[in-house]
Amino acid sequence: MGIFFIFPGLDDIPLEICYTLRMQKKLIAGNWKMNGDLASALALTRGIVEGVNADPGLLQRCDVLICPPFVHLARVRANLGQPPLVMLGAQDCSERENGAVTGDISAAMLADCGCGAVILGHSERRQFHQESDALIAAKAGKAHAAGLIAVICVGESESQRAAGTHFEVVAAQLKGALPASMTPENTVIAYEPVWAIGTGKTATPEDVREMHAFIRKSAGSARILYGGSVKPENAAELFKTENVDGALIGGASLKAEQYLSIAKAA
Ligand code: 13P
Repeated sequence: MGIFFIFPGLDDIPLEICYTLRMQKKLIAGNWKMNGDLASALALTRGIVEGVNADPGLLQRCDVLICPPFVHLARVRANLGQPPLVMLGAQDCSERENGAVTGDISAAMLADCGCGAVILGHSERRQFHQESDALIAAKAGKAHAAGLIAVICVGESESQRAAGTHFEVVAAQLKGALPASMTPENTVIAYEPVWAIGTGKTATPEDVREMHAFIRKSAGSARILYGGSVKPENAAELFKTENVDGALIGGASLKAEQYLSIAKAA
Protein backbone atom coordinates (compact mmCIF):
# COMPACT_ATOMS: atom_id res chain seq x y z
CA MET A 1 0.00 0.00 0.00
CA GLY A 2 2.86 2.37 0.85
CA ILE A 3 4.15 1.83 -2.64
CA PHE A 4 1.35 3.89 -4.16
CA PHE A 5 2.31 6.91 -2.12
CA ILE A 6 5.38 7.09 -4.29
CA PHE A 7 3.60 6.23 -7.49
CA PRO A 8 0.53 8.41 -7.63
CA GLY A 9 -1.34 7.66 -10.81
CA LEU A 10 0.32 4.31 -11.39
CA ASP A 11 -2.28 2.30 -9.48
CA ASP A 12 -3.32 0.29 -12.49
CA ILE A 13 0.21 -0.74 -13.40
CA PRO A 14 0.99 -4.26 -12.09
CA LEU A 15 2.81 -4.23 -8.78
CA GLU A 16 5.90 -5.91 -10.19
CA ILE A 17 6.39 -3.20 -12.79
CA CYS A 18 5.85 -0.57 -10.08
CA TYR A 19 8.60 -2.18 -8.05
CA THR A 20 10.91 -2.26 -11.04
CA LEU A 21 10.26 1.38 -11.73
CA ARG A 22 10.89 2.24 -8.13
CA MET A 23 14.13 0.32 -7.96
CA GLN A 24 15.52 2.43 -10.79
CA LYS A 25 14.88 5.68 -8.98
CA LYS A 26 17.02 7.25 -6.31
CA LEU A 27 15.46 7.60 -2.87
CA ILE A 28 15.93 10.96 -1.19
CA ALA A 29 15.12 10.51 2.50
CA GLY A 30 15.03 13.31 5.06
CA ASN A 31 15.58 12.39 8.70
CA TRP A 32 14.33 15.36 10.69
CA LYS A 33 15.54 13.81 13.97
CA MET A 34 14.30 15.59 17.16
CA ASN A 35 14.00 19.04 15.62
CA GLY A 36 11.30 21.62 15.23
CA ASP A 37 7.92 22.52 16.64
CA LEU A 38 4.63 21.93 14.86
CA ALA A 39 4.70 25.30 13.08
CA SER A 40 8.18 24.72 11.68
CA ALA A 41 7.35 21.12 10.71
CA LEU A 42 4.34 22.33 8.74
CA ALA A 43 6.29 25.17 7.12
CA LEU A 44 8.99 22.71 6.07
CA THR A 45 6.36 20.31 4.72
CA ARG A 46 4.76 23.13 2.74
CA GLY A 47 8.11 24.15 1.29
CA ILE A 48 8.89 20.61 0.19
CA VAL A 49 5.44 19.92 -1.28
CA GLU A 50 5.51 23.24 -3.19
CA GLY A 51 8.98 22.47 -4.50
CA VAL A 52 7.94 19.00 -5.68
CA ASN A 53 4.80 20.42 -7.32
CA ALA A 54 6.83 23.07 -9.09
CA ASP A 55 9.09 20.45 -10.71
CA PRO A 56 6.85 17.73 -12.16
CA GLY A 57 9.88 15.82 -13.53
CA LEU A 58 11.39 15.44 -10.07
CA LEU A 59 9.30 12.45 -9.03
CA GLN A 60 10.13 10.73 -12.32
CA ARG A 61 13.76 10.82 -11.24
CA CYS A 62 13.55 10.15 -7.52
CA ASP A 63 11.30 9.14 -4.65
CA VAL A 64 11.02 11.65 -1.85
CA LEU A 65 10.61 10.51 1.76
CA ILE A 66 10.36 12.71 4.84
CA CYS A 67 10.65 11.39 8.40
CA PRO A 68 9.39 13.91 10.97
CA PRO A 69 9.24 13.26 14.75
CA PHE A 70 6.33 10.99 15.83
CA VAL A 71 4.21 13.80 17.27
CA HIS A 72 4.10 15.65 13.94
CA LEU A 73 3.37 12.68 11.68
CA ALA A 74 -0.40 13.00 11.48
CA ARG A 75 -0.36 16.76 10.90
CA VAL A 76 2.40 16.51 8.33
CA ARG A 77 0.50 13.70 6.59
CA ALA A 78 -2.58 15.92 6.35
CA ASN A 79 -0.47 18.51 4.52
CA LEU A 80 1.09 16.26 1.89
CA GLY A 81 -1.73 16.69 -0.62
CA GLN A 82 -4.11 14.12 -2.07
CA PRO A 83 -2.78 11.81 -3.30
CA PRO A 84 0.39 12.53 -1.33
CA LEU A 85 3.36 13.14 -3.62
CA VAL A 86 5.87 12.79 -0.87
CA MET A 87 6.17 9.62 1.18
CA LEU A 88 5.94 9.83 4.95
CA GLY A 89 8.15 7.84 7.31
CA ALA A 90 8.95 7.61 11.01
CA GLN A 91 12.31 7.41 12.79
CA ASP A 92 11.76 4.27 14.86
CA CYS A 93 9.12 1.71 15.88
CA SER A 94 8.62 -0.87 18.59
CA GLU A 95 9.74 -4.47 18.22
CA ARG A 96 6.46 -5.46 19.89
CA GLU A 97 3.01 -5.80 18.46
CA ASN A 98 0.95 -3.75 20.94
CA GLY A 99 -0.13 -3.65 24.58
CA ALA A 100 1.55 -2.58 27.81
CA VAL A 101 4.69 -0.97 26.39
CA THR A 102 4.53 2.58 27.76
CA GLY A 103 6.00 5.20 25.48
CA ASP A 104 6.51 2.99 22.43
CA ILE A 105 4.86 3.27 19.02
CA SER A 106 4.02 0.18 16.98
CA ALA A 107 4.69 -0.29 13.27
CA ALA A 108 0.97 -0.82 12.72
CA MET A 109 0.24 2.59 14.32
CA LEU A 110 2.69 4.20 11.91
CA ALA A 111 1.05 2.53 8.92
CA ASP A 112 -2.34 3.61 10.26
CA CYS A 113 -1.32 7.26 10.35
CA GLY A 114 -0.06 7.22 6.77
CA CYS A 115 3.58 6.17 7.01
CA GLY A 116 5.06 4.06 4.24
CA ALA A 117 8.50 3.65 5.79
CA VAL A 118 10.43 3.71 9.05
CA ILE A 119 14.11 4.37 9.79
CA LEU A 120 15.58 1.68 12.06
CA GLY A 121 18.92 1.21 13.80
CA HIS A 122 20.15 4.75 13.29
CA SER A 123 23.53 5.18 15.01
CA GLU A 124 21.94 7.68 17.41
CA ARG A 125 19.51 4.98 18.57
CA ARG A 126 22.34 2.48 18.79
CA GLN A 127 24.31 5.00 20.88
CA PHE A 128 21.65 6.59 23.11
CA HIS A 129 19.32 3.60 23.47
CA GLN A 130 21.84 0.77 23.25
CA GLU A 131 19.94 -0.80 20.36
CA SER A 132 21.42 -4.12 19.28
CA ASP A 133 21.34 -5.65 15.81
CA ALA A 134 18.93 -8.32 17.08
CA LEU A 135 16.53 -5.65 18.35
CA ILE A 136 16.75 -3.80 15.03
CA ALA A 137 15.99 -7.02 13.14
CA ALA A 138 12.93 -7.58 15.38
CA LYS A 139 11.73 -4.01 14.70
CA ALA A 140 12.28 -4.48 10.97
CA GLY A 141 10.22 -7.68 11.07
CA LYS A 142 7.34 -5.76 12.65
CA ALA A 143 7.73 -2.95 10.11
CA HIS A 144 7.47 -5.44 7.25
CA ALA A 145 4.46 -7.14 8.79
CA ALA A 146 2.74 -3.73 8.91
CA GLY A 147 3.56 -3.10 5.23
CA LEU A 148 6.27 -0.53 5.90
CA ILE A 149 9.61 -0.20 4.14
CA ALA A 150 12.40 -0.58 6.71
CA VAL A 151 15.31 1.80 6.19
CA ILE A 152 18.00 -0.03 8.15
CA CYS A 153 21.10 1.97 9.09
CA VAL A 154 24.61 0.61 9.39
CA GLY A 155 28.01 2.28 9.68
CA GLU A 156 31.28 2.25 11.55
CA SER A 157 32.65 4.70 14.13
CA GLU A 158 35.74 6.83 13.60
CA SER A 159 37.91 4.53 15.72
CA GLN A 160 36.66 1.44 13.90
CA ARG A 161 37.60 3.01 10.58
CA ALA A 162 40.98 4.09 11.94
CA ALA A 163 41.55 0.50 13.10
CA GLY A 164 40.62 -0.76 9.62
CA THR A 165 37.71 -2.86 10.92
CA HIS A 166 34.94 -1.00 9.06
CA PHE A 167 34.07 -3.88 6.71
CA GLU A 168 33.88 -6.35 9.61
CA VAL A 169 31.70 -3.95 11.63
CA VAL A 170 29.28 -3.37 8.77
CA ALA A 171 29.20 -7.08 7.88
CA ALA A 172 28.22 -7.94 11.47
CA GLN A 173 25.53 -5.22 11.50
CA LEU A 174 24.07 -6.51 8.23
CA LYS A 175 24.15 -10.11 9.41
CA GLY A 176 22.42 -9.22 12.68
CA ALA A 177 20.01 -6.47 11.67
CA LEU A 178 18.53 -7.66 8.37
CA PRO A 179 15.42 -9.72 9.14
CA ALA A 180 14.31 -12.92 7.45
CA SER A 181 11.37 -10.98 5.99
CA MET A 182 13.69 -8.73 3.95
CA THR A 183 13.00 -8.34 0.24
CA PRO A 184 14.51 -5.79 -2.16
CA GLU A 185 11.15 -4.03 -2.16
CA ASN A 186 10.53 -3.75 1.58
CA THR A 187 14.04 -2.86 2.72
CA VAL A 188 16.49 -0.04 2.13
CA ILE A 189 19.98 -0.08 3.63
CA ALA A 190 21.51 3.23 4.68
CA TYR A 191 25.28 3.35 5.06
CA GLU A 192 26.02 6.14 7.52
CA PRO A 193 29.61 6.26 8.77
CA VAL A 194 29.16 7.62 12.30
CA TRP A 195 32.11 10.00 11.92
CA ALA A 196 30.40 11.70 8.96
CA ILE A 197 27.08 12.40 10.72
CA GLY A 198 26.59 16.07 11.53
CA THR A 199 30.33 16.71 11.30
CA GLY A 200 30.64 18.20 7.83
CA LYS A 201 33.05 15.35 6.98
CA THR A 202 31.86 13.22 4.08
CA ALA A 203 33.36 9.89 3.17
CA THR A 204 35.40 10.15 -0.04
CA PRO A 205 33.71 8.86 -3.21
CA GLU A 206 36.21 5.98 -3.16
CA ASP A 207 35.30 5.05 0.48
CA VAL A 208 31.63 5.18 -0.46
CA ARG A 209 32.11 3.16 -3.65
CA GLU A 210 34.05 0.50 -1.79
CA MET A 211 31.60 0.17 1.11
CA HIS A 212 28.48 0.24 -1.08
CA ALA A 213 29.94 -2.49 -3.29
CA PHE A 214 30.55 -4.50 -0.13
CA ILE A 215 26.98 -3.90 1.14
CA ARG A 216 25.57 -4.83 -2.29
CA LYS A 217 26.54 -8.46 -1.62
CA SER A 218 24.01 -8.58 1.26
CA ALA A 219 21.51 -6.12 -0.20
CA GLY A 220 20.76 -7.85 -3.50
CA SER A 221 18.78 -5.30 -5.50
CA ALA A 222 17.55 -3.36 -2.43
CA ARG A 223 18.42 0.30 -2.51
CA ILE A 224 21.55 1.42 -0.65
CA LEU A 225 21.59 5.03 0.58
CA TYR A 226 24.56 7.05 1.74
CA GLY A 227 24.16 9.28 4.79
CA GLY A 228 26.52 11.66 6.58
CA SER A 229 26.82 15.38 5.86
CA VAL A 230 25.06 15.14 2.48
CA LYS A 231 24.65 18.68 1.16
CA PRO A 232 23.65 20.28 -2.14
CA GLU A 233 27.38 20.78 -2.84
CA ASN A 234 28.38 17.11 -2.58
CA ALA A 235 25.14 15.37 -3.64
CA ALA A 236 25.79 15.19 -7.39
CA GLU A 237 29.16 13.52 -6.94
CA LEU A 238 27.75 11.02 -4.43
CA PHE A 239 24.85 10.13 -6.71
CA LYS A 240 27.27 9.40 -9.54
CA THR A 241 29.02 6.81 -7.38
CA GLU A 242 28.29 3.19 -8.21
CA ASN A 243 25.72 1.50 -5.93
CA VAL A 244 24.59 4.79 -4.37
CA ASP A 245 20.80 4.62 -4.77
CA GLY A 246 20.00 7.77 -2.83
CA ALA A 247 20.73 9.61 0.39
CA LEU A 248 19.62 9.76 4.00
CA ILE A 249 19.90 13.40 4.94
CA GLY A 250 19.89 14.96 8.41
CA GLY A 251 20.72 18.66 8.78
CA ALA A 252 20.15 19.62 5.15
CA SER A 253 16.67 18.03 5.19
CA LEU A 254 15.50 20.70 7.61
CA LYS A 255 15.71 23.40 4.93
CA ALA A 256 13.30 22.84 2.05
CA GLU A 257 15.58 24.59 -0.43
CA GLN A 258 18.63 22.47 0.45
CA TYR A 259 16.66 19.25 0.57
CA LEU A 260 15.07 19.94 -2.82
CA SER A 261 18.36 20.87 -4.35
CA ILE A 262 19.79 17.49 -3.19
CA ALA A 263 16.74 15.78 -4.76
CA LYS A 264 17.30 17.69 -8.01
CA ALA A 265 20.88 16.38 -8.10
CA ALA A 266 19.54 12.82 -8.27
P1 13P B 1 23.63 14.83 8.68
O1 13P B 1 23.15 14.90 7.27
O2 13P B 1 23.19 15.98 9.53
O3 13P B 1 25.10 14.55 8.75
O4 13P B 1 22.91 13.55 9.35
C1 13P B 1 22.97 12.34 8.69
C2 13P B 1 22.02 11.42 9.36
O5 13P B 1 22.24 10.99 10.49
C3 13P B 1 20.80 11.04 8.62
O6 13P B 1 20.15 9.97 9.25
